[in-house]
Amino acid sequence: MAKLEIINNPLIKTKLTLIRDKRTTSKDFYSNLTDIAMLMSPFVFKDINLEEVKVVTPICETAGYEVKDKILLVVILRAGLGFLEGFRKTIPEAKIGFLGMYRDEETLLPHEYYKRLPKDLSNYKIYILDPMLATGGSAVDACNSLVKYGAKDISFVGLVGAPEGIEKLNKEYPQVNIYLASLDEKLNESGYIVPGLGDCGDRVFGM
Ligand code: PRP
Ligand code: URA
Repeated sequence: MAKLEIINNPLIKTKLTLIRDKRTTSKDFYSNLTDIAMLMSPFVFKDINLEEVKVVTPICETAGYEVKDKILLVVILRAGLGFLEGFRKTIPEAKIGFLGMYRDEETLLPHEYYKRLPKDLSNYKIYILDPMLATGGSAVDACNSLVKYGAKDISFVGLVGAPEGIEKLNKEYPQVNIYLASLDEKLNESGYIVPGLGDCGDRVFGM
């Protein structure tokens, strides 16, 4: 069974409060989301493998480290773009792939409209970046696409999740680890997370 980790950190909690606040501007929303991504990063990437390298300081030669694993961050458009800057800053070695998908407002089913990924994903440690895990439909669809490209090692990194989405992703992909900053209460009748933060893509981009 995969791991569900709710990253419990006081700095993340205060920034998430600002993000949830409906009065927060798009600029501040994005800035806090970037900070949260940077704060989540040490937890999400704590198991990546390093290799020892030599480094020459102004004083002498010593041992240093480089990332050994092939890391791929897969950004789910649009809201995942709000997460990219913070994670990329902490792991600049990562390659970045994109999946464009939107939820039909009536059916809540995801529709994929864009895909840009390396051809063979079998050797990558893959981290899906999408702040919202609501019904779980988008996350499962993203996993379906990645598996078609050979993906074997996938984690989902979100900001806020609903129990419904976690259950669905766990059922369809029990091997996928899930990292969140908050496990919220439920979904409402329109498929929004409660208490949540509203439409994340709209709040990141102001429309
Ligand atoms: C949001 C969010 C997720 C999806 C989650 O995207 O970024 O991808 O909803 O919902 P689900 O778990 O029920 O599938 P949205 O469809 O609103 O597109 P956007 O990011 O372009 O606004
Ligand atoms: N997508 C969002 O952006 N917000 C939600 O609450 C649910 C899905």
